[in-house]
Amino acid sequence: TKGAAMVTAVASRVQAQRKQIDKVLALFHLTREQLLGVRDKMRAELEYGLKKKTHALATVKMLPTYVYGMPDGTEKGKFLALDLGGTNFRVLLVKIRKRSVRMYNKIFAIPLEIMQGTGEELFDHIVQCIADFLDYMGLKGAQLPLGFTFSFPCRQTCIDKGTLVGWTKGFKATDCEGEDVVDMLREAIKRRNEFDLDIVAIVNDTVGTMMTCGYEDPRCEIGLIAGTGSNVCYMEEMRNIELVDGDEGRMCVNTEWGGFGDNGCIDDIRTQYDKEVDEGSLNAGKQRYEKMTSGMYLGEIVRRILIDLTRQGLLFRGQISERLRTRGIFETKFLSQIESDRLALLQVRRILQQLGLDSTCEDSIVVKEVCGAVSRRAAQMCGAGMAAIVEKRREDQGLQHFKVTVGVDGTLYKLHPHFSRILQETVKDLAPQCDVTFMLSEDGSGKGAALITAVAKRLQQLPKD
Ligand code: GLC
Repeated sequence: TKGAAMVTAVASRVQAQRKQIDKVLALFHLTREQLLGVRDKMRAELEYGLKKKTHALATVKMLPTYVYGMPDGTEKGKFLALDLGGTNFRVLLVKIRKRSVRMYNKIFAIPLEIMQGTGEELFDHIVQCIADFLDYMGLKGAQLPLGFTFSFPCRQTCIDKGTLVGWTKGFKATDCEGEDVVDMLREAIKRRNEFDLDIVAIVNDTVGTMMTCGYEDPRCEIGLIAGTGSNVCYMEEMRNIELVDGDEGRMCVNTEWGGFGDNGCIDDIRTQYDKEVDEGSLNAGKQRYEKMTSGMYLGEIVRRILIDLTRQGLLFRGQISERLRTRGIFETKFLSQIESDRLALLQVRRILQQLGLDSTCEDSIVVKEVCGAVSRRAAQMCGAGMAAIVEKRREDQGLQHFKVTVGVDGTLYKLHPHFSRILQETVKDLAPQCDVTFMLSEDGSGKGAALITAVAKRLQQLPKD
């Protein structure tokens, strides 16, 4: 009977621990009502961003892009493209001919001290990389038109001017905010005094992604990035864009929806862990929605939860290791591996081992559940945001049913085993009158920048009257 009593004691302790773990996981469970709330608040913020009266204070900035339409298939030529702001910095050569696109690209590292150094250093480094690429491709003398995919919020007044509103994600170079990014690039090229480039367009990655898919599917009028950061662009009626004169036709708007919630409107669903991640970030208080939905932050949320569970004695034998204290250990690729269905728990433990975390079998189950809860919430919130966009487009066109394609790119969408499915299910549930097809864009930002450059170049060369 002594043995039986011990067994009961252990069983009830296990039960109590399970309760504590479930309590934490439950914080990440959103009800349908809460998701509808996210959708409706997002919708309201989209409208604020578009309206002159409310724009200045709006958290979703709804930036005009001066991209008026899709490529029509007659684009041709050789272009350079730069892609800055995603997982990698790349320089590309893009050749477009008769609807076929060929690309050559080189990935360059941007060291942390340059991402967070001075603006001049950052742009000098970029120009150094362009020089390497041109050398490598044997193109030093050629004066090719260049499209610059710059994946940060920019206030534009035309296709080749963009003032940086503020850095997001992992960047924090000084003396750039409020400056024209194209000018900064031009000046860095001048400083180097080695070659000349014809910078034709500055493009957000969402816009490049939309363009790339629009090249193949005329129904594509929305671009989504679910990667390091989270953002959407879409084609909006000119009459609704109060910041730009003219009522005819449509223009692509870069929503910068990552800033949704910066006025506190979703604080009711933010957890203590979200707040910790925000406070430990480079831009505290900003990009709150992005910090709940994108690859750069999901791993951090997981880490904060694991620390808390360990502190409560529910994980890792109650020992918070140095590794667990280290920021950024859970990259998107690890989260994606841990959540893969085909993976046996032993393999989860092996991944944790690689990350420097010693786990028992029970630990690995809990870690996997935590990852699942965090990524599920991310996909659902992203889906709620998307539902707001497609519903707005449907209503604006006075349609009963709206069929639309969304071009998508980003590591979270591409690598994670469940994110894309949950995202799609959520959109379907929260925007039932819309029929939304997600189309993966292979290399959207590079190809899209080239396509936009091609269109802009053609328009430049038309006689102006
Ligand atoms: C951040 C940037 C935005 C970009 C997104 C995806 O949210 O502010 O411009 O589109 O990341 O890279």
